[in-house]
Amino acid sequence: MKTEHASAQYLKDYKKPEFLVQNVVLTFYLDGENTKVINTTEYYRAEAGANKLVLNGEHQQLERVELDGRQLTASEYQITNETLTLTDLPEQFVLTTESLIDPVNNTALEGLYLSGGAYCTQCEAQGFRRITYFQDRPDVLGAFTTHIIADKSMYPHLLSNGNKVAEETLPSGLTKVTWVDPFKKPCYLFALVAGDFDVLQDSFNSRSGRNIQLELFVDKGNLGRAEHAMASLKAAMAWDEQRFSLEYDLDIYMIVAVDFFNMGAMENKGLNVFNSKCVLADRESATDADYLSIESIVGHEYFHNWTGNRVTCRDWFQLSLKEGLTVFRDQEFSMDLGSRAVNRIQQVRIMREHQFAEDASPMSHPIRPDAVIEMNNFYTVTVYDKGAEVIRMLHSILGEDKFQQGMALYFERFDGQAVTCDDFVDAMQDASGLDLSQFRLWYSQSGTPVVSVSSEYNQVAQTLTLTLQQMTHATFDQVDKAPLHIPVKIAFYYQDGQPAELTGGAEQVLNLTQAEQSFTFACKQPVYFSLLRDFSAPVKLNYQYSDAELSCLIPAETSDYAKWELMQNLYIKYLCQDVKGELTEYPVEIAQVLRALLADESLDKALLAEILTVPSFSSLLEYFEQVNPQKIIRARQSLQVYLVDQIGDSLYRVWQQATPTDYQYNASEIARRSLWGASLKLLAMANYADIGEQLGEFYQGADNMTDRLSILQAAGVSDKNVFKQLMDDFDQSWRGDSLVMDKWFALQAKQDTDEIFTNIEKLQSHPDFNWNNPNKVRALFGQFAMFNHAQFHRSDGRGYQLVSRAIEKLNAINPQVAARMITPLIQYHKLDLGRQTLIKSELQRLSALDGLSSDLYEKISKSLAS
Ligand code: TRP
Ligand code: ZN
Repeated sequence: MKTEHASAQYLKDYKKPEFLVQNVVLTFYLDGENTKVINTTEYYRAEAGANKLVLNGEHQQLERVELDGRQLTASEYQITNETLTLTDLPEQFVLTTESLIDPVNNTALEGLYLSGGAYCTQCEAQGFRRITYFQDRPDVLGAFTTHIIADKSMYPHLLSNGNKVAEETLPSGLTKVTWVDPFKKPCYLFALVAGDFDVLQDSFNSRSGRNIQLELFVDKGNLGRAEHAMASLKAAMAWDEQRFSLEYDLDIYMIVAVDFFNMGAMENKGLNVFNSKCVLADRESATDADYLSIESIVGHEYFHNWTGNRVTCRDWFQLSLKEGLTVFRDQEFSMDLGSRAVNRIQQVRIMREHQFAEDASPMSHPIRPDAVIEMNNFYTVTVYDKGAEVIRMLHSILGEDKFQQGMALYFERFDGQAVTCDDFVDAMQDASGLDLSQFRLWYSQSGTPVVSVSSEYNQVAQTLTLTLQQMTHATFDQVDKAPLHIPVKIAFYYQDGQPAELTGGAEQVLNLTQAEQSFTFACKQPVYFSLLRDFSAPVKLNYQYSDAELSCLIPAETSDYAKWELMQNLYIKYLCQDVKGELTEYPVEIAQVLRALLADESLDKALLAEILTVPSFSSLLEYFEQVNPQKIIRARQSLQVYLVDQIGDSLYRVWQQATPTDYQYNASEIARRSLWGASLKLLAMANYADIGEQLGEFYQGADNMTDRLSILQAAGVSDKNVFKQLMDDFDQSWRGDSLVMDKWFALQAKQDTDEIFTNIEKLQSHPDFNWNNPNKVRALFGQFAMFNHAQFHRSDGRGYQLVSRAIEKLNAINPQVAARMITPLIQYHKLDLGRQTLIKSELQRLSALDGLSSDLYEKISKSLAS
């Protein structure tokens, strides 16, 4: 590597801050490229004998330093590109710094930047150091006052955390507003927004009788798309009171939607900043999936107010303390409001498609990482989603009541503090009286455990013995693995499908704590069993169900989730045979089982839609070593065509029964639309009953974006000409509507055609494309890399090249977005050696780039060393 790169930081090296802060007063003179920030902070010595204060600060020009009112000369402090260091310090002092920053040219979107004409900030994880000099670490908590000085005619809304306490017009004609946040917080939760918005106002009566003002700020003209986010916020506030006994603590809660944002949203105290994609929705422009994702993200950020803000992280290695727990909370919110099974299926998909792949990649890490080069690289599916699975296991081990007692104890002990994952588990342990010492290994051990199951029925003794083994393979980051505490939920059924009355009941949890363990049950006749119900632990199950078992269990299962899970097992068994060239024919059981499910009127339509969806490319990749990915793509296609061939008539009938009526947004209509879309796509793929010819007509008749997108997807896999026509029509209707056009870019990027490379080239000059906007880049290049499997994995390497060139370009614009997009390129270990070589040569080329960011450096260097 040419450039010098940041070295790793280690969890084991944590040291307490030697100086802490009290009041922090920030004054912003918003003035484009020359924005001035004055920071007056009260410091006090926290560790006896400490005499050196190192502040973080980057991408700013330091103009002045004052200690207790006396301006320091250049020899009285040390400054580097990243730090400002002071020595010989009194017990307590007030430090003032003045610096200049440039939000206009800030394309990294960290710190203060401009998004479509509005000033906004993103400080997590380490963006605050781009705003002013400060100890940019989560265990330094201050009480913030923010003054914003700006031209109110251009920026009518000047916002920051807490309550607005003053507004005045200065002699210059500029406006000065002052915000005070009464809650001490780490600087990553600081936010400032200045812009011209439309505001949706509402209020919420909290359970203790306080009236909380709610404000949602959107680009002018977008008020009509803000209602659903506001309704979601109110639902989240009510739910957190009911389920967790947690009430909001300020008098005002604000959400601002911006178009330029690196992630989904950010939980800044009292002033959330959201990617507009995670706020705006109406029936014409957003799908049901968008509505549900908005509900969950609005909930997520709101729930952070307690799990993240009131109790925060001691250091960034503890990120899962707030993220795993808050994801668990937002999942439960969505599950309490909607379908538990369908939500669970979606959560499990994320684990199997993304988290397992991450754990098998050079970026493998425990939910609490031990070593980090670039913190931005650790906002991962492991920390978030596997972290939530770990909390979910705790919840299932403790039960709701004990878990809630643990939460209450956690807040009682740690409110207002910056703490660790161990502190959280301690609270759960102390509240429940359970010994969680082995359970804690889930925090420090990476990798996906494989649980193998074998069974033996003893006719004479009338006993069933299940033997479970667990094995976690070495990962790239960690060789030695110990047995974990793995709760395995199981249900037993007699061979006629009735729940089996064994000792311990028809439904049980097997607590696997050793490498190998046997469980014996008294049982008068042989039984079938359904394993890992609810995905009770984030593991891979190694158990080959026979076709007879599956065709008994799928209809018999009393759990909707488990029905889906078992159906996946049936598909996967034959998909894997096909990929390996071992398939002679599909078994009759597949069609039999599906026909029965399609005929079952009592089945939730949304569940049926999930059952009709064959396992994804990414989840299948997990079953192979050095596989030609085109074989997986072909196996999926043949299975889908086979399904329509076998059950086309039933499918067609179900599809017709699910035909759209007038649009309504409610659970049963969402379910109906999803079944209509899923069956349409299958039928179109096999062109059943010439359905492709009707797509144009359906498209013209559609009155909502969910149906329109289903139709476009169906056209994309059936008739290329119809697809092109409809896409042109879509472009005409929606050009200039940024969020809607992202869907169009994504559909283009996912087309399996040899013209994809010229198409993507042309699309970069489309008026709605913009390299500086992460949503656009993700829609075009991210969707290509993640979902256009056939073209991304071409044997000539053009797919890999396209993505690596985009990453090269993005490295200079926005390192965070570039580093997220490299994920599909560094997860090459399951691919055949030819493709591995092609990818490695792209990584090699990227590694030699001038000015390679630490974000990319960390991922590429780990990959090339693996
Ligand atoms: N804390 C945010 C969340 O979970 C995540 C986030 C938003 C973020 N923006 C970011 C993380 C930028 C890193 C960088 O909701
Ligand atoms: Zn979060």
